[in-house]
Amino acid sequence: MAPIPKFAAALPPFLLAITLAAAQRIGTAIPEVHPKMATQLCTTSGGCVTRQTSLVTDALSRPFHAADNMAVPCATTPLNATLCPDAATCAQNCVLEGVEYGSIGVLTAGSAVTLRQYLFDGSEFKSVSPRLYLLAENDKNYEPLKLLNQELTFDVDVSKLGCGMNGALYLSEMDVSGARSDLNPAGAQYGTGYCDAQCFTVPFINGLPNLNSSGSCCNEMDIWEANSQATAYTPHTCSSPGSFLCDPAAGACNKTTGVCDKDGCGINAFGLGATSFYGPGLTVDTSRPFTVITQFLTADNTTSTPLIEIRRLYLQDNKLIPNTATTTNAAIQTLPGGFAGAITQDYCAARGAKDFTRLGGLEGMGQSLARGMVLVFSLWNSPGDFMSWLDGGSNGPCNATAGDPRDIVRMSPEVSVTFSNVRWGDVGVGHSFVGWLYPWL
Ligand SMILES: *[C@@H]1O[C@H](CO)[C@@H](O)[C@H](O)[C@H]1NC(C)=O
Ligand SMILES: *[C@@H]1O[C@H](CO)[C@@H](O)[C@H](O)[C@H]1NC(C)=O
Ligand SMILES: *[C@@H]1O[C@H](CO)[C@@H](O)[C@H](O)[C@H]1NC(C)=O
Ligand SMILES: *[C@@H]1O[C@H](CO)[C@@H](O)[C@H](O)[C@H]1NC(C)=O
Ligand SMILES: *[C@@H]1O[C@H](CO)[C@@H](O)[C@H](O)[C@H]1NC(C)=O
Repeated sequence: MAPIPKFAAALPPFLLAITLAAAQRIGTAIPEVHPKMATQLCTTSGGCVTRQTSLVTDALSRPFHAADNMAVPCATTPLNATLCPDAATCAQNCVLEGVEYGSIGVLTAGSAVTLRQYLFDGSEFKSVSPRLYLLAENDKNYEPLKLLNQELTFDVDVSKLGCGMNGALYLSEMDVSGARSDLNPAGAQYGTGYCDAQCFTVPFINGLPNLNSSGSCCNEMDIWEANSQATAYTPHTCSSPGSFLCDPAAGACNKTTGVCDKDGCGINAFGLGATSFYGPGLTVDTSRPFTVITQFLTADNTTSTPLIEIRRLYLQDNKLIPNTATTTNAAIQTLPGGFAGAITQDYCAARGAKDFTRLGGLEGMGQSLARGMVLVFSLWNSPGDFMSWLDGGSNGPCNATAGDPRDIVRMSPEVSVTFSNVRWGDVGVGHSFVGWLYPWL
């Protein structure tokens, strides 16, 4: 794939002319063609059935500019008061364009998607750090995954992700239409409506200008945050269902007084003391692809009781590998029901995950999973903390500076992650069909 710069800054004059004439809220300069990525829905009765789903990138990762001048961006911080004094004027003045997915480091083939962190623009590597949402077969709205009493399975190749990288697959309780409205006609088709439990303050929320510095909040289930050195899975709860705003002036976007649990209640095997479970050449060998299974189990294995456990299994070389139950943490070793390597409310209490419990705990997460959440794929690194919460200190083998993005781009600009064969449905079905998915096994 020929590397292409992130934004089509120098559009051919004829395309520019079309845009100038169009002056509408969905741009016409760059068509939006969603990359197809097949997924599967698995049921005990019907097995796994392929679905023609597709991906869409976030609204703020695409050209978003003044209707009469492509060179003037709309999603600035602070907002341009001439373009966006209020939501209605902003909707008249601003245009969301399509994006050429190769230019943001995204390549799909069949049921696989590869995300790259950097692309060469002819003179240097530029960060593109893609984030994508799963669209339903109608190609219009997000696919709401309803995973209470269900499991989600995918294959992943993290072999090209070193320290400091985070190839993530997670769920956010976004509005299924991307909060499509008169003032946001683009909606999910153009990737609007993002929210998560960090309640980030972004220039546009739900396709509308964020005029009062609100944060964009919703329940988040981090199924997979990983590189080849470490991995974590982490539920984050919020005080309200769906996507909602937090008011920073009231402290509602804060960590300890806020409406969402920013730290979450996660499991990182290395962090719990199992230092030889996950990594190159280890029990889960990250130098090669493997399968990740995450089960959202209820008390009686129906949807009428609350979520009580989030269980992780791996599959590699046709061998099922339960998440390790090894831990050196005394409080977790002595849990009343024992520790089986899974997230339970007792585990979260032993970890001291106060905000998680205050904001609904495992039961609250289960309610969000039952309502439906949107699947997100992303690849990123972090200039602020070098992602050391994931793979450094006591949480992984990486040293304090290994995850510095300035070194990553210099030493391994080819970093990428591939997710494939994403499937979800009844517990046990997605991986009992391995013979079908891997006919050569
Ligand atoms: C704000 O928008 C106006 C109108 O399009 C434009 O002339 C001006 O250059 C913009 N300001 C900035 C800082 O981009
Ligand atoms: C901020 O603006 C949004 C959108 O107009 C509004 O719904 C919300 O109530 C405002 N927040 C505060 C604290 O005024
Ligand atoms: C909460 O947020 C407010 C307003 O942003 C800030 O002034 C305050 O220091 C924060 N409080 C805590 C406990 O973090
Ligand atoms: C529910 O299903 C899980 C996974 O198959 C199993 O381990 C567990 O024992 C079941 N629980 C009950 C109460 O049947
Ligand atoms: C930290 O790790 C990086 C990359 O693995 C390596 O290049 C560097 O020499 C290490 N630094 C120290 C102080 O060990």
